[in-house]
Order: sequence, then C-alpha cells, then structure tokens
Amino acid sequence: MQHESVSNIVPATPDTIARAGALIAAGKLVAFPTETVFGLGADATNGKAVAAIFAAKGRPSFNPLITHLADVAHVEEHAVADERAEELATRFWPGPLTLVLKRQPTSPISELVTAGLDSIAVRVPAHPVARSLLAAAGRPVAAPSANRSGRISSTTAIHVAEELGEAVDLILASGKSQLGLESTILDLTGETPVLLRPGTVTVEEIEEAIGPVTVSQGNPDRPNAPGQLSRHYAPATKLRLNAAMADPGEALLAFGPNPFAGRLAKTVLNLSDRGDLNEAAANLFAMLRQLDGGGYYSIAVAPIPMTGLGLAINDRLARAAAPPDDGEEND
Ligand code: TXA
Ligand code: MG
Repeated sequence: MQHESVSNIVPATPDTIARAGALIAAGKLVAFPTETVFGLGADATNGKAVAAIFAAKGRPSFNPLITHLADVAHVEEHAVADERAEELATRFWPGPLTLVLKRQPTSPISELVTAGLDSIAVRVPAHPVARSLLAAAGRPVAAPSANRSGRISSTTAIHVAEELGEAVDLILASGKSQLGLESTILDLTGETPVLLRPGTVTVEEIEEAIGPVTVSQGNPDRPNAPGQLSRHYAPATKLRLNAAMADPGEALLAFGPNPFAGRLAKTVLNLSDRGDLNEAAANLFAMLRQLDGGGYYSIAVAPIPMTGLGLAINDRLARAAAPPDDGEEND
C-alpha cells in the first residue's frame, strides 16, 4: 500500500469539488463517491483522459465504460432514449441504474468509452457529491469502479488510494458508499430488455415499469463472454496484425515513426506518430472505424509493443481480427 498516495485524498467540499471539476475538464483523473461504489472519472469526450483510466486500472482490455451525466436532461445528447428508457429514467434516476442505449451519432463521447460500439451505457448517479462534481466538470464523465482490474470495487476513499495510489490525481472523500454494490445494468438496445448486471434496482422493479426482462446468462462482470460477442466492435474489413509493411491495396494503421511501412498503402492513419501508447489507445476505435469504412482489401496493423496500455490495445486488436464466433472472455 502506498501511504504517500493518501495525500491525494481531500474531503468533498464545495471548494474541492470545484477543483475536481476543473481537473476533469483539464483531462485529469478524479476518483469520486457515488451511492453504489467509488468511480474513477475522466472527461468522456477526451480520448487521452479516458485512456489514462485504463492505464491506471491496469485493465488488460478495453471494456466499454459507463458515462455519468449530471442530469437526465443531458441523456439525449449522447443516447437515443425510447419510451422504456424514459419510464425507467423517471422512476430510477438519479440512482443506481445504468442503461445501455443506442449511441446518439452526434455525441462527442470518445469511441474508447463505448469501445467502438454503437451503444452507450449511461447513468445519472444520485450521490450529491457525484452530482455536484458532474455539474462542476460541465461535461459527461466516464467512470469505471475505482479499483485495479480484477479486484473488488472501492467503497471508501482509502480503498481507492490503496488500489490506485498516485495514478489518480485527486480522490474526493465522503464517507462510505451507501449501497456498496455496482449499479444494475440493463441493455435496452434490443426488443427485449436484457439485464447485464444485477444490482440494487431489481428485475422485479424494472419489470413492473416496462414489462418482461431477459436475464443475461453470461458473467455479469464479463459482458463480452461467449454468446454476447455482439457487444464487441468488429470491423467488416479483414485486419492483418503485426504487419511490418502494408501490401498494395491495403490501408495501414501505423504506430510510431516508420515512414516506410506505409509506402504501398492506399491510406495511412497513425495511432501515435510519437509512439505514445496512451495516445494510441485514445485513437484506436475511431481510426479502426474510419479505415473500416474505406473499402480496403484489408487493414494492415503495425506491431504495438506489449507493454503498459499496449496489452489492452493488442487484446482489442486480436478481438477485432478474430472470426465472428471466436468466443473469448474480456476484462
Ligand atoms: O455503480 C457503477 O455502475 C459504478 C459507478 C462508478 O458508477 N461503475 C461501474 O463501472 O461499475 P465498471 O466499468 O466497473 O462496469 C461497467 C460495466 C462493464 O461490465 C461494461 O462492460 C458494461 O458496464 N458496459 C458499459 N458500456 C456498455 C455497453 N455499451 N454495452 C454493454 N455493456 C456495457
Ligand atoms: Mg468494475
């Protein structure tokens, strides 16, 4: 445990919340209390800030993140809310419910938050500190639970400091999380609502509001397990990984300075000219998507080092390159 990191903790007051909001607006990471568990928040519209979340958590892969909004009024900017979503929002927001909805095409949320998917998970938390922080940040905040990957969620500021230490710029303290269990996640992108993760808002309560719900059979913390792979972004164009050079007719997704690799390519996009993995992570989904729409024979992808965020980038690329039925777990 890194005791020096405890200095990152400040009690939540109007002053520290304002400071935390400014930090988020400046692309920094702030851990904050919600009624469920503590979140590790970053500006959801800033891909590099979002990439820093994955780096701080040591996540081996890019699971999509929940976008936290200050007010229900902001939902439509980022998600397409149907009648069911409106009904649930009226009953349970602000509160411990996350809805997976169709992503609003004009939303400025980073593709890294949504893992390149056409859906987006949104939640309006109830905790007064979370709400004040979201208002102070003045933007949507992407926040997974504030723990290292594969470990349990944090329910106090001290837990967060023990888990994430100096990787987080500021930790807002405000006692213990009231619920201590992550939010209920309900997928409304299909005809039948699907419960992806059980939580304090129960299936019974949801069914009373909008009718029958299917309970997902997968591991709730691994929503991308076999059978649920549709939640992964898979380009239609074939990917050729670890390519030293692009072949004629291919597009190249480059990484770092290598002026020769793309000589024969029709198009070259560079994840990071400087070879910065954080920048590469921030660009990954958006660039894949852009190249996928270009009608290329295939997309050559330059080797990405297997260090730091490179693990997550390679994991994601391997998934994107895999045949559609190759069921693999994520997170
Ligand atoms: O209570 C909570 O929900 C906490 C607090 C901080 O809000 N957050 C939280 O986030 O638990 P996280 O990242 O630990 O869990 C988010 C879950 C992941 O399992 C992820 O795969 C799923 O939400 N998720 C996010 N976007 C999704 C999408 N578009 N489709 C399907 N699942 C999605
Ligand atoms: Mg979590």
